[in-house]
Amino acid sequence: MFSKKTIADIDPQGKRVLVRVDFNVPLEAGVVQDDTRMTAALPTIENLLSRGAAVILCSHLGRPTGEPDPQYSMAPVAEHLRTLTQAPVHFVAEAVGTQAEAAAQALQPGEILVLENTRFYAGETKNDPAMAEALAKLADIYVNDAFGSAHRAHASTEGVARHLPAVAGLLMEKEIQYLGQALAEPKRPFVAILGGAKVSDKIEVIRNLLSKADQVLIGGGMANTFFAAQGIAMGDSLVEPDAIDTAKALLADAGGKLSLPVDFVIADAFSADAGHEARAVGDVPAGWRVLDIGPNTVAAFSAAVRAAGTVVWNGPMGVFEMAPFAAGTFGVAEAVADSAAVSIVGGGDSVSALQQSGLADKITHISTGGGASLEMLEGKLLPGLAALEDK
Ligand code: 3PG
Repeated sequence: MFSKKTIADIDPQGKRVLVRVDFNVPLEAGVVQDDTRMTAALPTIENLLSRGAAVILCSHLGRPTGEPDPQYSMAPVAEHLRTLTQAPVHFVAEAVGTQAEAAAQALQPGEILVLENTRFYAGETKNDPAMAEALAKLADIYVNDAFGSAHRAHASTEGVARHLPAVAGLLMEKEIQYLGQALAEPKRPFVAILGGAKVSDKIEVIRNLLSKADQVLIGGGMANTFFAAQGIAMGDSLVEPDAIDTAKALLADAGGKLSLPVDFVIADAFSADAGHEARAVGDVPAGWRVLDIGPNTVAAFSAAVRAAGTVVWNGPMGVFEMAPFAAGTFGVAEAVADSAAVSIVGGGDSVSALQQSGLADKITHISTGGGASLEMLEGKLLPGLAALEDK
């Protein structure tokens, strides 16, 4: 169970509470394109406000290089937050320093202050103790609700927790509980579905899941390398030569738990209007490339999902941005949505496939973390979580 203190273990009445959120949201021309991560943090924010706290929010946005960069300002994010809450939302153009301190001092219970991007300071990603102390100076209590950034040991996610009473927010608690429970005590059979282009990104995930799950289904470009490792011709498909030995070792260690596609959709060019057809494994001609799993694979993966007690899905089955190569990913999305299993989906692409097909509300838990959920699936300790106080 969740072993860290949460906002239920503190009395925030009349206190200034610094909440690290992951408001690293997509922006276009200063307009938030997807506010899922913001709405996911609202329960924590509203809870603290209703209990008489003044709430100071900090987050990174994008990857500025340790100095102010207007295109990554949090100002538009603060603007969008005003549409999501009744509480007054203030913004200050500093994350630390005299202006930030003055704004924090002036903040009243029931109000929100959004700080400028924490990555406008070089000390953030270096986890500089001076930056952590400067952040801590703004508040009486620290809450980490930024699950999506919990795999980063930065000043606002890790260092600051050394200087204030430090507890988890409700989103952090929920994310860790779902992912942690699936890994520690899954309802069996536990089926993991992994996709994405590169096996090299997910070696540790596969290794860890092979030790925990009953079945690991592999689709997407990463399956190609497993076939190449068995000497099967893959035509012009994306194969990672450097990962072939690892793929061989994983296959040898899998003890029958690892399932690969039985057929593909292949194309004569990497383009949405390429010639394409379904072919069995072993039947990929030179000049053609695998861009999706085939219909028989969708059926086989769906059957495994139907029989599962727990399903964890991360990564697309093909190039689903192009319509002719989307059936695999959408087929798996449907199977996961229809299944009675506890279903957990992470990673931007699989989540966006679910949202595009209108199936997101049929999933038990959609993670707001990309890298963070992968590191959890790898079995790693997340520094942002580790830094919080134990119950
Ligand atoms: C994410 O989007 O995965 C998190 O916000 C972390 O962002 P980062 O990879 O730039 O640290």
